[in-house]
Amino acid sequence: MELKLKINEDLCIACKQCQQVCIRDNIIVEDFAVETGSNCFECGHCMAICRQNAITLKSFEHDSDKIVEYDPRESILEYDDLLEFLKRRRSIRWFKNKKIDEVTFDKLFKGAYYSPSAQNAQDVEFVVLDDKLDEFMNLVYDIIKVEEDEFFRIKEFGEYLADNTTKKFHPLLWEGKQLILTFSTDKTSAVIANTRLELLAYSLGLGGFYSLFILKSDEINHEKLMEFFPDIDKNKHMFSAFIIGYPKKLFRKTIPHKDIKVTYY
Ligand SMILES: Cc1cc2nc3c(=O)[nH]c(=O)nc-3n(C[C@H](O)[C@H](O)[C@H](O)COP(=O)(O)O)c2cc1C
Repeated sequence: MELKLKINEDLCIACKQCQQVCIRDNIIVEDFAVETGSNCFECGHCMAICRQNAITLKSFEHDSDKIVEYDPRESILEYDDLLEFLKRRRSIRWFKNKKIDEVTFDKLFKGAYYSPSAQNAQDVEFVVLDDKLDEFMNLVYDIIKVEEDEFFRIKEFGEYLADNTTKKFHPLLWEGKQLILTFSTDKTSAVIANTRLELLAYSLGLGGFYSLFILKSDEINHEKLMEFFPDIDKNKHMFSAFIIGYPKKLFRKTIPHKDIKVTYY
């Protein structure tokens, strides 16, 4: 049986907090905490709640620099501030020529690092398309063209690829020059992770928009799409495509939305 926790019996004061937060019933506390099974999925809740620092996840034993202690009662973000931030978010399609560098991308991916994932699988991964963006978009067109009678945007995309001298903007990328793709076995986990980096992007003065049509390539022909990404596990799907850059046009007001429908049962 592979144990995932390192428990320091001398530090443990048998407060049972770890046992209470373990959703896998993997810890029993008598004189001290003991890992009882092989059920642990390394969520780290036992470690994070322990006041005594008596528990460590073995696989992250040498990552203590990645653990930050904080005062859980201290509020660092007020509701009004966060809501105001969300209100001002807009899809950005018009970008400056300046490209985002890797240091800035790293800052964005930190948001995804702290993202929740189904079964704590942590299997979300990203691709940044930059130099190979045009090559990738050609593949996307090859796959999604089967739906060009249904979607005028796809037809326009084909016309643009054949001759881009008459069209003002790229019908799918607009002025975008960099694209973030999110892959995972679980759609919700991928979308949550991407949303976090999207929000961080706005906080760094960046912006972007999601692309429905790029995503269609995974829905229509996953196998063919994945030939472009030989290093990514084929069980993962591309669940988010986010074009990103430095905004050129700045919006000045919110617009009204349809009321959000909520039903309480
Ligand atoms: C899942 C999803 C797919 C989208 N696909 C596209 C797209 O293919 N092309 C595009 O220009 N905008 C796309 N958008 C952006 C929406 O058109 C945009 O959110 C909407 O017009 C409202 O504008 P706002 O985001 O500024 O509030 C997409 C948005 C989402 C959430």
